[in-house]
Amino acid sequence: MKADVLLGLQWGDEGKGKIVDVLSPNYDIIARFQGGPNAGHTLIFNNQKFVLHLIPSGIFRKNTINVIGDGVVLDPVIFAEEIEQIEKTGINLSENLLLAEKTNLILPTHRILDAANENELGNAKIGSTGKGIGPTYTDKIGRNALRIGDIVSEDFKNKYNDLKTRHLKRLKTYNFDFDISEYEKKWFKGIEKLKRFKIINSSYFFNKALIEGKKILAEGAQGTLLDINSGTYPFVTSSTVTSAGVCTGLGIAPSKIGEVYGIFKAYITRVGSGPFPTELFDGNGEKLQKIGHEYGATTGRKRRCGWLDLTALKYTVQINGVTALIMTKADILSEFDTFKVSEYYKSGTCKIDYFPYEINENIKPVYKTFKGWKTNINNCKTKEDFPKEFNDFIKYIEKQTGVPIKIISTGADRAETIIL
Ligand code: GDP
Ligand code: IMO
Ligand code: MG
Repeated sequence: MKADVLLGLQWGDEGKGKIVDVLSPNYDIIARFQGGPNAGHTLIFNNQKFVLHLIPSGIFRKNTINVIGDGVVLDPVIFAEEIEQIEKTGINLSENLLLAEKTNLILPTHRILDAANENELGNAKIGSTGKGIGPTYTDKIGRNALRIGDIVSEDFKNKYNDLKTRHLKRLKTYNFDFDISEYEKKWFKGIEKLKRFKIINSSYFFNKALIEGKKILAEGAQGTLLDINSGTYPFVTSSTVTSAGVCTGLGIAPSKIGEVYGIFKAYITRVGSGPFPTELFDGNGEKLQKIGHEYGATTGRKRRCGWLDLTALKYTVQINGVTALIMTKADILSEFDTFKVSEYYKSGTCKIDYFPYEINENIKPVYKTFKGWKTNINNCKTKEDFPKEFNDFIKYIEKQTGVPIKIISTGADRAETIIL
C-alpha cells in the first residue's frame, strides 16, 4: 500500500478540512504531517461546525485512527481545548487519536518570541498567526526542541526550564512586555492531558500499517505558497507544506506516496502579509470576501481575495506531483456575470510563465475572462447537472494543469461534494 496525501495548492484555507472529512470513510488512518495550531480546518455536517487546529479532520468518523505526526508542532494548551470541545460531542478520543513521539512542543515562550519578532518587524511583519510556529521550528532546526517523547522523562521539568531560560535571555534583547504565568499553568495541565494518549514511533507505525494494507491519508496544513522552501519567502510559514514533507513528517519513503490530491479554490485568498499578484482591491474583491465569508478560521482576520492564478497553480501542482485536483468554492463564482483567471504574468513587455523569485509591483497578471454560469450549483450531483459554462471552466483548468479535477465542492457542508 501507499499513503495518499491531500494538501493545499494556494496560500491555505482551500477547504482541506472539509474534504479530508468527506474522504475519511475511505481511509483507516488520517495523519497530520506538518504545521501546528496555525491551521484552522473547518468541518460542517448535521448543522454543526467544528474548527480543528491540531487534530486531524478524520476525527468525527468512527472507524478512523487519527495521528499527529512527527513533523507537527503542538501546543498542549490548544490541544487540551480542542479535545475538550470534541469530547463534548461524545467521541472518545483515547481510542482513535495517537501522538507521535518526535512531535515538537510549542512552549509559552515560543508564542512570546513569535509576537516579539513580529513587533520588531513593524510594517515588514509576516502576519504570523501568533501561535509560536516560527520560533518552535527554529528550535527544532537548532536542535534545542522539546518533543512529546520527552514528557515522560523525569528530567522533563529541567529540560523545559533550560529552554525557557534561553528564550528569556533572548527576549531581554527585545523591547517587549509579557507575562506567561497563566499560560504556563495551563501548559503544564495540557502536558498532563497528553499523557492519556498512546504515544507512537511514527515511522514504525506507518510502515507497519502500509505493510498490513491499511489506507492512509496525510492531511496537509497551510498551502504550498506558504511552504518554507517553495513559498513566497519570507512571507511563509516555517514547515515543509509540500508532499515531500509527508516523508519527513511521518517517517515514510518517497516511494510510499500514492495519490497526491491538490486542493484549490476557484479563486484565491491570502491571510497575512506578502505578495499576491492577482489580489483585487475593487468591488469584485469585496464581493468574493463577503459572499465567500473569507475570514481566517484561526485568527478571524479578513482574507485578501483575488482571481485564480494559474501560474501559481501550475507551479504548486508541479512541486507536489499532484495526481488529482480538488476544486472548492466554485459556488461563490455563481454570483458573478463574468470572472477572470490569470493565465500568466507580464513584466513590462516580457511574458513570465513561471512563478518568479521576486514578485514585485512590476509583475502584472494577464487575465482571461470567463462568462459566469449564474445558476446555483449547490444541488448538482454529477457533471451532467453542471451548467455548460461551469463544465467549460473545469475543462480549461484540467487542460492548463494537465491534471484531472476529481472532486468538486459546491458548498461548506459535508454533503455538498461531488466525486467525479
Ligand atoms: P482549510 O484550512 O483548507 O481547511 O480551509 P478553512 O476551513 O480555513 O477555510 C475554508 C472555508 O470555506 C471554511 O469556512 C469552509 O466551511 C468553507 N468551504 C469549504 N468548501 C467550500 C465550498 O465549496 N463552498 C463554500 N461556499 N464554502 C466552502
Ligand atoms: P490552514 O491549514 C492560511 C499564514 C499566516 C501568515 C504566515 C505565517 O488553515 O490552511 P505562521 O503562524 O505559520 O508563522 O504564519 O502563514 N498561515 C496561514 N494562512 N491558512 C493557514 O492554515 C495558515 N497557517 C499559517 O497568516 O501569513
Ligand atoms: Mg484554514
